[in-house]
Amino acid sequence: MAGDKLSGRVALVTGGTRGIGAAICRSMASQGAAIAAGFSGNTERADQFLKAFDDDYDGRVRATVHQGNISRPEDCRRVVQEVLDQHGRLDILVNNAGITIDKMAMKMSVEDWNTVLAVNLSGSFFMAQPALEHMVDRGTGRIIFVSSVIGETGNIGQANYAASKSGMLGLTKTLAKEAAFLLQRAGKLQDDGIGVTVNTVTPGFVATEMLENVPEKVLDKIRSQIPLGRLCHPDEIARVVHFLAADASAYITGQVWGVNGGLDM
Ligand code: CAA
Repeated sequence: MAGDKLSGRVALVTGGTRGIGAAICRSMASQGAAIAAGFSGNTERADQFLKAFDDDYDGRVRATVHQGNISRPEDCRRVVQEVLDQHGRLDILVNNAGITIDKMAMKMSVEDWNTVLAVNLSGSFFMAQPALEHMVDRGTGRIIFVSSVIGETGNIGQANYAASKSGMLGLTKTLAKEAAFLLQRAGKLQDDGIGVTVNTVTPGFVATEMLENVPEKVLDKIRSQIPLGRLCHPDEIARVVHFLAADASAYITGQVWGVNGGLDM
């Protein structure tokens, strides 16, 4: 499904070299955006991603990769600066990178708790800060958080993950309000403008590597609770993200978009 809804835009996607993040990169590219994909440690995967991307788009869409640990604010600032240096602008930030360390709450160590909160929640904030600064300054931009249905429903074995994903909802609404406020104060909030919006997508259970550690008996139980009776394809998340990233989505801000096969009903 090729189009030009994001033509001339630059999109930075954390955790962009695999799973949902890679699907988001491809979906943005299919609408004409240049891509900057963040990754934490797996250089081999990042190289494979770049190669596959170049093969698919044959140089028509520019893609770069950027290494950093999003739980470190200094890495986040550096990565945003790298994107600005290499692409000249940053229009869309997708805070997609996330991890799980699933354990029953009674068995969850302080480190299990802190690590997941540091990456999923603090990391999203540390990325959003420098990106928002640039976007508010310019008067246009899109920030999209990839939270989870678990942030809305909770889940056995995921106290740390659920708390981090719920936290993203409050963060989204706050940044959405601040962005609108700052634009208005600067006289940049126009009726027909693109503006700066901040939204969240809450995926359900998506068929990616993240599900590999879930015991089969638990996965069967989960599948039986999904009204649509199947797991989600990464592309089904990606198409909602690129919709929210488009200029025409200017009147949608501070919202939570569930893509979960009806799991939260
Ligand atoms: N939903 C329903 N039941 C669950 C469950 C869940 N999420 N997690 C565990 N259970 C049940 C098990 O089926 C089991 O029940 P029975 O005794 O009747 O068989 C019981 O709880 C204990 O489970 P385990 O035997 O597996 O106990 P454990 O201590 O070895 O492991 C656990 C506990 C670490 C929580 C493990 O069960 C587990 O990994 N569960 C899956 C957690 C999960 O759903 N993670 C989602 C990852 S994907 C993701 O996070 C992306 C996203 O946004 C959706």
